[in-house]
Amino acid sequence: MNNQNDFEIFLGTQPGLEALLLQEVIERGFKGAKAVGGGVTVRGHWEDVWRANLTLRGASKVLARIGEFRAFHLAQLDKRARKFPWDETLMPGHTVKVEVVTNRKSKIYHAGAAIERIERAIHEEFGSKIATSMEDADIIIKARIDDNNVRFSVDTSGVGLHKRGYKQAMGKAPLRETMAALALRGCGYSGNEPVLDPMCGSGTFLIEAAEMSRNLMAGRYRSFAFEKLASYDPGAVKRFHETWKPRQSQQRFYGSDRNVNVIGFSKANAERAGVLDMCTFKPLPLSTIERPDGPNGLIIVNPPYGARIGKKKDLFALYTAFGDVMRERFSGWRVGLITSDSKLAEATKLPWLPTGPPIAHGGLRVRLFRTKAL
Ligand SMILES: C[S@@+](CC[C@H](N)C(=O)[O-])C[C@H]1O[C@@H](n2cnc3c(N)ncnc32)[C@H](O)[C@@H]1O
Repeated sequence: MNNQNDFEIFLGTQPGLEALLLQEVIERGFKGAKAVGGGVTVRGHWEDVWRANLTLRGASKVLARIGEFRAFHLAQLDKRARKFPWDETLMPGHTVKVEVVTNRKSKIYHAGAAIERIERAIHEEFGSKIATSMEDADIIIKARIDDNNVRFSVDTSGVGLHKRGYKQAMGKAPLRETMAALALRGCGYSGNEPVLDPMCGSGTFLIEAAEMSRNLMAGRYRSFAFEKLASYDPGAVKRFHETWKPRQSQQRFYGSDRNVNVIGFSKANAERAGVLDMCTFKPLPLSTIERPDGPNGLIIVNPPYGARIGKKKDLFALYTAFGDVMRERFSGWRVGLITSDSKLAEATKLPWLPTGPPIAHGGLRVRLFRTKAL
């Protein structure tokens, strides 16, 4: 790939969250942003790839398109994959694995055979060792064979970007940080108001919100697959870290949960993320939470939902109680709630605004329900 030219960068997200990710990508100044199924595409250079990995809160993966060619049969795929300039992307000494997606419009439709050809080409022409599984691979190359066109991308993130690097302890059904960040955005949160989660589990919403409030870099604690690519410039990435400007914030973040163990996890996670000084975590059942002193803000919560944990009848009682507590004690606050079951959301009797599309979440479809200020 020619370093002078820009190229397509794909920013993945959970289907249903594309529009919210698009907002963030545009705000962060990426060029040519377009929402597509399962993500957003932009055009840019390697600096943009590093910046996307380090700073976007909503993206779950960053893929760089590294080239394409036509191939109508496996022998042609083999020949062209051998001629592909792998040295522009890969570095010696790292293991590689290839993932292929084909479609019916292509003469090459057998993904397994295509993987075998591409991996052999990389191994024999460039010398990379092929990993035995995706988990063991340092670098994952993704090939999409569509209408006899073979398009290669490299996964520049490695471990999914929801892993910010601070969360070691979790409750039963933790939310992904990337989804929490986009749900906060969907509720109009921009870092300038208090946030309260009365069923906070491992504290995901509050830690994300506190980090947003201080403008901390999302990926500041982790490493990325791009560090193992030929294009990596450690000096440029270091300078980027050095010039990033966190801001002062006096906002407060309130978490409670009836499970005392998860409150311990929240505290430990917030401490590792460096935001514990902004947070208050208390082991409390929903029924006893109180409105904090100070300005109104946002309540955001993902209560248990049937298909994951808890029993249906108890869940209806819990959602009804949640609605009562909100109306009685939180007038002037906005509410955001994630659940898989619209009937549970209705049981709160809160004045929900029209909802966005369903969001694919761990085999379920969930929605973000939002109110205006109560
Ligand atoms: C789906 S989990 C929330 C996960 C959390 N967002 C996270 O990222 O870790 C639901 C949480 O609700 C809590 N919970 C259930 N019933 C509750 C109640 N009546 N009062 C307070 N917390 C409750 C559970 O202990 C659990 O931690």
